[in-house]
Amino acid sequence: MDHRQPITPKLLSFLPSSFLVKKELVYALFFLLVLISSFVFFNFVSPLQPQTIFDVAFFTQLFTIDKSSITSNTCDYSSGRWVSDVNRPLKSYTENCPLLDPGFRCRRNGRTDDGYLKWRWQPNGCDLPRFDARDLLERSRNGRIVFAGDSIGRNQWESMLCMLSQGVSNLSTIYEVNGSPITKHKGYLSIRFSEYNLTVEYYRVPFLVITGPPPKNSSSKIRSAIRVDKLHWRSLTWVGADVLVFNAGHWWSQDKTTKMGYYFQEGGTINNTMDAIEALRRSLQTWKSWAMQSLDADKSHIFFRSYSPIHYRQVKLNGTWNDGGGCDKDVKPETNDENPDAEPVHNHFISETVKQMRSENRKAQFLNITYLTDFRRDGHPSLYREPSTPVNAPQDCSHWCLPGIPDTWNELLYAQLVSDGFRISSHN
Ligand SMILES: *[C@@H]1O[C@H](CO)[C@@H](O)[C@H](O)[C@H]1NC(C)=O
Ligand SMILES: *[C@@H]1O[C@H](CO)[C@@H](O)[C@H](O)[C@H]1NC(C)=O
Ligand SMILES: *[C@@H]1O[C@H](CO)[C@@H](O)[C@H](O)[C@H]1NC(C)=O
Ligand SMILES: *[C@@H]1O[C@H](CO)[C@@H](O)[C@H](O)[C@H]1NC(C)=O
Ligand SMILES: *[C@@H]1O[C@H](CO)[C@@H](O)[C@H](O)[C@H]1NC(C)=O
Ligand SMILES: *[C@@H]1O[C@H](CO)[C@@H](O)[C@H](O)[C@H]1NC(C)=O
Repeated sequence: MDHRQPITPKLLSFLPSSFLVKKELVYALFFLLVLISSFVFFNFVSPLQPQTIFDVAFFTQLFTIDKSSITSNTCDYSSGRWVSDVNRPLKSYTENCPLLDPGFRCRRNGRTDDGYLKWRWQPNGCDLPRFDARDLLERSRNGRIVFAGDSIGRNQWESMLCMLSQGVSNLSTIYEVNGSPITKHKGYLSIRFSEYNLTVEYYRVPFLVITGPPPKNSSSKIRSAIRVDKLHWRSLTWVGADVLVFNAGHWWSQDKTTKMGYYFQEGGTINNTMDAIEALRRSLQTWKSWAMQSLDADKSHIFFRSYSPIHYRQVKLNGTWNDGGGCDKDVKPETNDENPDAEPVHNHFISETVKQMRSENRKAQFLNITYLTDFRRDGHPSLYREPSTPVNAPQDCSHWCLPGIPDTWNELLYAQLVSDGFRISSHN
């Protein structure tokens, strides 16, 4: 996941790597000096003249020219560390954001510590650009942003809604197109930012492909079929979106498929021996074929987010969600990365698929958040889930409190979009 470093001004590339460029450097510095003096002069003498505005624009341009031509500096946002940032909550939205699901408002649901809000991700060797809601709204004007995947995808979608809402002057101009409430019980929700003629949509498709009744003469142990060669019918509505953010995670396990009677189907028949990971691999190829055929290579920016780690290890080393595992005692990020979890196999298939698409000139990116997220066992709702949840229900150590960790995923998403030149000049 290499990205162009978006901050470095072009002028730095003037700095001499050998003495041959010395003369040019002198000229450049001289030119700059003249420019600065004229800038200062005009500002000083006639601060309200239109000329000043011209000069400011020209001056700024000089420092920001052609970011897209910087290819030598690359930045991998996925590796880095969490650093304490006590001011972060001031720059963020709050649990009062009306676009939040009750289940993600952890403090309202009884969580008393707030340290989990006071960390920011510091990539190694570069900075994440500040998330600029207005800039992203402006770039997305008259457009569509689509999130498709499981409930962790909804978690990220809601985070994005609240982050974007910070750039809107009148919150009442943001609404769900069908008037639906934002809850986990809906399979499809579309939020309209009417000041920008933009919709930010969520589709619940945990497997990305079609799930449905098994073929007629299947054995009775088969309750349902996951059709690895047929993308979900909802995909018809994703066509034409400007930004698409997919994910596929926790459902691709034996526990949530074959052990539950969900088997994999290819062509007209169930394949009894196909396991969840092989099925994921094939479904990703189905997804890729769809994206290659149906999405506009110039227009659509396609992301596939990596696996979001779960943390049920507090009570037992190998705790799981249904045997009393928990995360409610975790109030700080983990600092020890000496024993990181093994890379989930999902990620290899996803990043490989994205690589194939990039080699075919698609604007596809792997949004690799697994490593940074793995430190944040303190960011889950744990006991502070949706208000109606029975007290003895298992803890939630897979979703995320909001504001919270998915905000950082969206900061990476924004950084990657900007570095990809997402609708930089064409606000059609
Ligand atoms: C995701 O990022 C982490 C941290 O940089 C890295 O160790 C891992 O290899 C990356 N995964 C993939 C599939 O590229
Ligand atoms: C809103 O955006 C759509 C494209 O998504 C466009 O067809 C329509 O003309 C836009 N409406 C206005 C009022 O600009
Ligand atoms: C905010 O938007 C709503 C809905 O469009 C509108 O009724 C209301 O007058 C607006 N308020 C302000 C202060 O502009
Ligand atoms: C029913 O299953 C058998 C194998 O068990 C297969 O040969 C046959 O083609 C299937 N019939 C239909 C209608 O799918
Ligand atoms: C079932 O899937 C496995 C891969 O998991 C594959 O090797 C095998 O050929 C498939 N069987 C049929 C009948 O297609
Ligand atoms: C936890 O699981 C790992 C890998 O499956 C195993 O090696 C280890 O012994 C387990 N530890 C405990 C305490 O059950």
